[in-house]
Amino acid sequence: MNAALTTEDSSHTIALEARDIFKHFDGVHALSGAQLSVRKGEIHALLGENGAGKSTLVKVLTGLYTPDSGTIVQNGSDVEFANVRVANRAGIVALYQELSIIPSISVAENIMLGEQTPNRGGLVQWKTLRRGAQEQLDRLNQTIPLGKLAGELSPVQQTMVAFARALATNAQVLILDEPTASLTDTEIKDLFAVLRKLRDQGVAIVYVSHRLEEVFELCDRLTIMRNGETIITKNVADSNIDEVISTMVGRAAGELYPERGTATSTVALTVEKVDGRKVKDISFTAHKGEVLGIGGLAGSGRSELLRILAGAQKHTAGTITVGDKTLRPSPGVSRALEAGIALVPEERRSQGVILSATIQDNIALANIPGVSSFGFVSGSRIVDITRQGMLDLQIKARGQRQPVGELSGGNQQKVVLAKMLARKPKVLLMDEPTRGIDVGTKAEIYRLIRELAAGGTTVVAVSSELPELMGMSDRIIIMHEGQISGEVQASEATEEILLAYCYGKADSHVNN
Ligand SMILES: Nc1ncnc2c1ncn2[C@@H]1O[C@H](COP(=O)(O)OP(=O)(O)OP(=O)(O)O)[C@@H](O)[C@H]1O
Ligand SMILES: [Mg+2]
Repeated sequence: MNAALTTEDSSHTIALEARDIFKHFDGVHALSGAQLSVRKGEIHALLGENGAGKSTLVKVLTGLYTPDSGTIVQNGSDVEFANVRVANRAGIVALYQELSIIPSISVAENIMLGEQTPNRGGLVQWKTLRRGAQEQLDRLNQTIPLGKLAGELSPVQQTMVAFARALATNAQVLILDEPTASLTDTEIKDLFAVLRKLRDQGVAIVYVSHRLEEVFELCDRLTIMRNGETIITKNVADSNIDEVISTMVGRAAGELYPERGTATSTVALTVEKVDGRKVKDISFTAHKGEVLGIGGLAGSGRSELLRILAGAQKHTAGTITVGDKTLRPSPGVSRALEAGIALVPEERRSQGVILSATIQDNIALANIPGVSSFGFVSGSRIVDITRQGMLDLQIKARGQRQPVGELSGGNQQKVVLAKMLARKPKVLLMDEPTRGIDVGTKAEIYRLIRELAAGGTTVVAVSSELPELMGMSDRIIIMHEGQISGEVQASEATEEILLAYCYGKADSHVNN
């Protein structure tokens, strides 16, 4: 074993260890000698670029995948987990990147699923079940109706239910694969409080995330993977974000954000007095070549506004004008697309891609006009467009014909981006463009956004990360409770100003 990997000393008890794990899927070496050693009572970050092998390692540790070779050691003994149930019984529980909520049953049943279901003589004891489920939700500070079907919950609530289920199993080792991707700041705080409590009770926690600030706030040690191998394990206190980034990508981190300044004075998008369910009286313009950032707290109406602009949701008042063409009210997605407005949605897995279809088909389907002439679809043009998209976004895959469902979480997101970028719309709407994307590729996405803008596209992008909002945009508008609460040039923005607007405290920031 590599000396750099061993930071173990005898004063710590190792709860779970992966030694020299290899795992391949036809042609792809997802893991080639991965190592991980998690102590009791620590939060251990597992880091690496999209496709580095993090989720695959998690799945091996929880019995979902059988490794080709290598050993798993639990509390000092070699173990083999034939399936997830066996691993669960051994106290190893994972919250996967792809949520495993069962939409057709209630919240309470989801939380107390399987082994947790209290029953007497085969009869489910509903009272005990509900009490048990409520207990877990209380630990998370969540008020979610127990009887509601899980499928009717918001993505955030679904994450919380999945997490409550993980808590219900009394895990000794708890593995979380990007748990905060769709959580709000308060929910993340609640989650961190629970994780710290569990850690202090001796639970070993593995935390997979692309949000390095979180890692430095929460975790005790970190392990970095690259191309299926473990590169290093370190105390978080002995490391820093720059070092982590350069270790992850295998080179020094360059400039994250490109130069601004492609905005013109030509108005490309005019939104006038638009009302929706939550959003009210929204008016703004965006220019050709401009990157307009939209900030605000989760639930402030940002995603709804984008959906309305993309024709995916009805609006009850107001007009939307692209160039000098005013769209008819609630035009629907295909008419909005025809007018040149395209949306990269927030929930990309459910709204953005067909998982069973290949990368090529996903990209081609979204770009029929771009890949056909005189009514005939050109195979070679599909190949070209797909190749370009995969290159631009560094999509890690076996080839163009690999089904999107087989890609790593971040690479699936990139396919959605590639497909919309290939359309070259007049107005490109993006909801959280870099969510789930590794730091190395983030810079690439900012560069592509800027390139599109330079080519005359208007980009309107929602982001919850203030540094990203300031770094990628020319101008920023902030929403608060469905309305625009402030507007600022990105070059003049500070986190304080933006946050004040986020909380609806217009102009009060000056004196505070
Ligand atoms: N079921 C599968 N079939 C084929 N290839 C797979 C499968 N699962 C994973 N892979 C491949 O294994 C590699 C590692 O993927 P993995 O999901 O472990 O990455 P990751 O580190 O979790 O990335 P991300 O940050 O994007 O979630 C990728 O190249 C991926 O395409
Ligand atoms: Mg993953």
